[in-house]
Amino acid sequence: MTASTRRHEPLTEAVLADGFFAGEIVEEPWQHLAQLRAAGPVSWNEGGGYWVASHHREVQQASVDPTRFCSGQGILTFEIGHTYPSPPTMMHTDPPDHTRYRALVAPAFRPSAMKALHPHLVGHARRLLDSLGDTIDIVHDFTVPFPLLVICELLGVPADEWEKFYLWSEVSVPGASDHTPEQRLAIQGEMIGYLLGVVAQKKMHPGDDVFSLLAAAGLTDFEIAMFAVQLLTAGNETVRNTMSSGIIELARDPDQWQRLRADRSLIPLAAEEMLRWSSSVIYFMRTAVEDTDLGGTTIAAGDHVVLLYASANRDEAVFGPTAAQFDIARSPNPHLAFGFGAHYCIGASLARQEIGVVLNEMLDRYSSIELVGDVQRTRSSIIAGIQKATLALTPS
Ligand code: HEM
Repeated sequence: MTASTRRHEPLTEAVLADGFFAGEIVEEPWQHLAQLRAAGPVSWNEGGGYWVASHHREVQQASVDPTRFCSGQGILTFEIGHTYPSPPTMMHTDPPDHTRYRALVAPAFRPSAMKALHPHLVGHARRLLDSLGDTIDIVHDFTVPFPLLVICELLGVPADEWEKFYLWSEVSVPGASDHTPEQRLAIQGEMIGYLLGVVAQKKMHPGDDVFSLLAAAGLTDFEIAMFAVQLLTAGNETVRNTMSSGIIELARDPDQWQRLRADRSLIPLAAEEMLRWSSSVIYFMRTAVEDTDLGGTTIAAGDHVVLLYASANRDEAVFGPTAAQFDIARSPNPHLAFGFGAHYCIGASLARQEIGVVLNEMLDRYSSIELVGDVQRTRSSIIAGIQKATLALTPS
């Protein structure tokens, strides 16, 4: 199909080209997404040269079948036309490679491993909350360090290394920090050197952590670095921003905070709503393997399709007239914040557990939380990031 026969939807440029939370749409990206959905399930972005799936149904359909829509030709729009000597992450692979890679790390995320992490999560949350005053920046003071401490635990590296991991993770997500491409490359080189060093140590002194698992799996250094970088970034920015966004919403809505305090059995539903609401991964991309239909549009072989989770998670056809409302008791809540299909987030249960622990600990300590001033967002089209939000905490 030639570009001239594609229905061009300029709104996709407003949403994606300059950063989802950037420029004019920084305050109200959701209105733009609602207009995009109203224009149809699949739109063509002329400037970017890719399709955008904005409805829940089409995002799910394109996620579920790698023989129609593959991951091996990039998952972010800046990767269009770029080829790698070997896949930079497991997310960039398709079966059978993907099946093999996933099976390698899956044991680190099995239910018994997640259960064993629980007391560590509680310990980290309590120590951080103990250190807070009555007025805090929820991002800097809590949601930045907490997931990083958990990742250190998971990867089997000392917890006091978390600040180093923070910088590395920031430079790995395009748009998350102000580093130049040269600075990013240099810092990433330092990170990979460190991570390979840790894996070499784990080969000699194995533990029951992810790095020891990778060290014993007979992978190449490049493959090990690929996993390490992915686990470091994937489990960090995502959890941080989901927590920041959800806690901010609870601070804006004291009734829902009190409802949760009174009924802790709502915490799992509240965690799902935080995931849906924040959609911290704004999109990932697929590439059509053959000419195929998506939402009544023919997608030509080789065309790229952006799966706009942030929009699918507000789709009125699925979430009804309250789709644009934050509701801690929403049920059912079939959000796509963790993706769908074979690449469904491997860290989903860890993330859910982290959110649940943090909510429970905060509800114990604070009779109310109040938002003071504006929320500052990061300028990224990939991660819906929150940079700063001041909260006033009233101890119970
Ligand atoms: C709120 C938290 C999180 C969100 C919103 C999130 C989101 C996602 C999404 C949307 C995908 C699907 C990728 C695709 O279909 O192409 C994914 C995959 C993945 N996530 Fe997460 N994630 C979160 C937490 C975590 C954590 C805590 C970890 C690990 C420590 C993690 C590790 C991964 C990995 C390794 C994959 C690749 C899976 C595969 O390709 O099979 N994520 N995540």
